[in-house]
Amino acid sequence: MARIIIDTENTKGTISKHIYGHFSEHLGRCIYEGLYVGESDTIPHKNGMRKDVVNALKEMGIPNLRWPGGCFADEYHWKDGVGDKSKRKRMVNTHWGGMVEDNSFGTHEFLELCDQLECEPYINGNVGSGEVAEMQEWVEYMTFGGESPMALWREQNGRKEPWGLKYFGVGNENWGCGGNMRAEHYADLYRRYATYVRSYGGNKIYRIASGPGTDYGHDRLNQCWTRTMMEQARHMFDGISLHYYTFPGSWHQKGPALGFNETEYYTTLKKSYWLDEVIKHHAAVVRRFDGEGRIKIIFDEWGTWYDVEPGTNPGFLYQQNTMRDAMVAAISLHIFHNHCDIIHMANIAQLVNVLQAVILTDKEKMLLTPTYHVFRMFKTHQDAELLASISVDGKAGPDEWTVPQITHSASRAADGTVTLTAANLSVDKAAEIEVILAGGSYTLKKGEILCGAMDAHNTFDAPRAVAPVPFDGCKDGKLTLPPCSVVSLILG
Ligand code: AHR
Repeated sequence: MARIIIDTENTKGTISKHIYGHFSEHLGRCIYEGLYVGESDTIPHKNGMRKDVVNALKEMGIPNLRWPGGCFADEYHWKDGVGDKSKRKRMVNTHWGGMVEDNSFGTHEFLELCDQLECEPYINGNVGSGEVAEMQEWVEYMTFGGESPMALWREQNGRKEPWGLKYFGVGNENWGCGGNMRAEHYADLYRRYATYVRSYGGNKIYRIASGPGTDYGHDRLNQCWTRTMMEQARHMFDGISLHYYTFPGSWHQKGPALGFNETEYYTTLKKSYWLDEVIKHHAAVVRRFDGEGRIKIIFDEWGTWYDVEPGTNPGFLYQQNTMRDAMVAAISLHIFHNHCDIIHMANIAQLVNVLQAVILTDKEKMLLTPTYHVFRMFKTHQDAELLASISVDGKAGPDEWTVPQITHSASRAADGTVTLTAANLSVDKAAEIEVILAGGSYTLKKGEILCGAMDAHNTFDAPRAVAPVPFDGCKDGKLTLPPCSVVSLILG
């Protein structure tokens, strides 16, 4: 029998709610159709934002949303996306499918969406093809409360009061799609651009520097980029970004989202554990230069990336989402918890219809993916205190791709309740787990379980084929988790 031992008196730091953050790019059907349908569509909306999607995201507990990219951020010119919609400039979205972007979703619309979602906006500025003044004016436009050219223009465009904006990213992947820069060159540019990203009045901006790209295997940990940024620009940022995507195959042949075999299942899970290595390596570099712990890691892109759904536009990155993705979500969120001393934010890519999405839409239809359910079931971890815990369990998977059979995490909320989340990663073996809570006696208040075959997923015809149900596998402190399952237990 496996064991999970939790010390309810020993806390390890606060799990920032922003670890449960999200990312929305002008890519495929994420913004258009997925979130925004415009003011005259027949799909029920409020000021153009889909009501079904907004309600589901609020229920899931979305703490922040990053926008407008991604690679798109470094070719986005915000002034094209404000003012009279009929006069907004049309551009080509060269990164993502060469589609015409009509700029009907811009700054006002994004901040309206965040208001409706009751989440913090995180805006990513353009260093790759944008000007310093353009970035300066964007921040002024959004946050300046007095009399200024940008504040006046904002008012003319229908918004008198400034918005509150905390998170601002200065470029994205500037080693790649954001300008193909050397670390030294970006470090200098970062210092220059960040100088003009000002905190006006009481609005304190949290500045985020673009970080390295990482890949499975030590060759692409890219510590050099992080080191250069820490050496040369650390006094000017609060957070440095990291990205890591999980794909079972190679970059050029990632593997299918559906119709995969057991080896591909375990390969995917094993590679998602690599996230832990990525964080450890970069955290070590960050802390070498910042012993006080002021600078945090903003893991603003993570998730699974498969070959696109056959028959869909390859530039749209649309993929299905199965119980395998639910497992990756559980593993990844638990890893972020364990590094909550340095991870302030993590954003799964991307919110709707792109990569490891929590929601898929097909015109007026919408479904919640297994990944959505994990985020919703885990939400009581947000802003809770991580509890010291260990698990003693077996292994699952073939030799080269062996993973622990169980992943788990425990936290204590402000109201004293303890959340224990766990997943049985084995595709064919149930897990019998004894849970030992040292330091208090607790009873089960609520339990939920999500389970299914490794490739179980929801479709528009069967949108609730995979959905959580009450958990009844708990008796005398012992849990029975079926193969390929995720549970959340609230103990009080
Ligand atoms: O999420 C898709 C893309 O992946 C983003 O635009 C980019 O930042 C990353 O390479």
